[in-house]
Amino acid sequence: MIWYPYVQMKNMETPYKIVDAEGVYLYTEEKKLIDSISSWWSVIHGYKRPELNEAMISQIQRFSHVMLGGLTHEPAEALSKKLEEFLPGDLNYVFFSDSGSVAVEVALKMALQYAMNRGERQRTMILALEHAYHGDTFKTMEAGDDEDYHFVLNAYGPSPHVVHIPTETEALEQAFQQYHERLNCMLVEPLLQGAGGMRMYDISFLEKARELCDRYGVLLIFDEVATGFGRTGHRFVADAVLPDILVLGKALTGGYLGHAATVANQKVYDGFYDDDPSHGLMHGPTFMGNAVACSVALRSIELFERENYMQKIRWIEEITRREMEGFTDPRIREVRIMGGCVCIEVWEEKTLEGYQQFAYARGVFARPFLRYLYAMVPYIITEEELIQVLDTMKAWFQER
Ligand SMILES: Cc1ncc(COP(=O)(O)O)c(C=O)c1O
Repeated sequence: MIWYPYVQMKNMETPYKIVDAEGVYLYTEEKKLIDSISSWWSVIHGYKRPELNEAMISQIQRFSHVMLGGLTHEPAEALSKKLEEFLPGDLNYVFFSDSGSVAVEVALKMALQYAMNRGERQRTMILALEHAYHGDTFKTMEAGDDEDYHFVLNAYGPSPHVVHIPTETEALEQAFQQYHERLNCMLVEPLLQGAGGMRMYDISFLEKARELCDRYGVLLIFDEVATGFGRTGHRFVADAVLPDILVLGKALTGGYLGHAATVANQKVYDGFYDDDPSHGLMHGPTFMGNAVACSVALRSIELFERENYMQKIRWIEEITRREMEGFTDPRIREVRIMGGCVCIEVWEEKTLEGYQQFAYARGVFARPFLRYLYAMVPYIITEEELIQVLDTMKAWFQER
């Protein structure tokens, strides 16, 4: 049987069985539901988009997959070239992998080996944020900071290789003061921390981080697996503050297939590029650069550009602000809005118990977690559909 994610199987609610999906809608046998969270924030163009289906089908008819070890192919070359143009600055060196977690692992390994290749073996520490989430593999759990996802690591005791700080400039400066000789990299979800509770913080923190990383020779890594492709209202936060390594996943393929990219700048790439074979990056997931995933990712980026998504995201944010204006309830701690993300944080977890069923009855699929009720809609949503999502969130408090 299927072992489902993030759940105690013994008392799990039966999952809704999806039989079809199109546009912003998921279909069960009896219900049509707006997917208010875009399949874990990935399906930005909605489901069954003809252009994306076509890109996949035509690639499958040529070939679906060949390894990248000793072979290469058009879809991987074209996507890497497209990313080179599409991403800011000199983020030009694209390492593919099959999921966001693995792509963050690759970024951390790249950063570590970068220091080793330079003979800086003492630089092993990661500076990360409180409430960080970077995936569920072991090193990403270690860099993460969320008891609810990562408590199993407590079995090993605290890690000497990671420091977590709040998103405050003072804490940032202090961490650099204290650890700069041992710091290898600073890893952040820029501006919006997703699974840690849709926490939003100011760009000035990242500007300061960039400055300190430069001053102390520390690599800055942006995990834009969740924030990339417009979610924060920036195309990439990297457009505003340039990291040394950028990690993309989720919406990279429009959410159609699992694929991810770790993109390095010239400085990082140069740290590997020399005559010593041991200075090469020793990594290679079997499905890296999968041809179908690359084809759909390429088409997804083309759609993103062609259809002026950044304007759509600004419009989603405007409507969301308008609809949420002045909305309060004693059970609510804070309402947060950024780009295509809205989050209602409540004081107590039990306030949200039963919301999923309530939303289902109103034609919305939602999946609040802990104290966070949120929406991250597909960008193709209409005003009416968006209002239905937001009204459902408000009704939970107004009607009970
Ligand atoms: C910021 C961030 N990094 C990494 C990941 C892990 O991605 P994946 O689930 O594709 O391994 C996630 C997933 O939610 C994420 O939000």
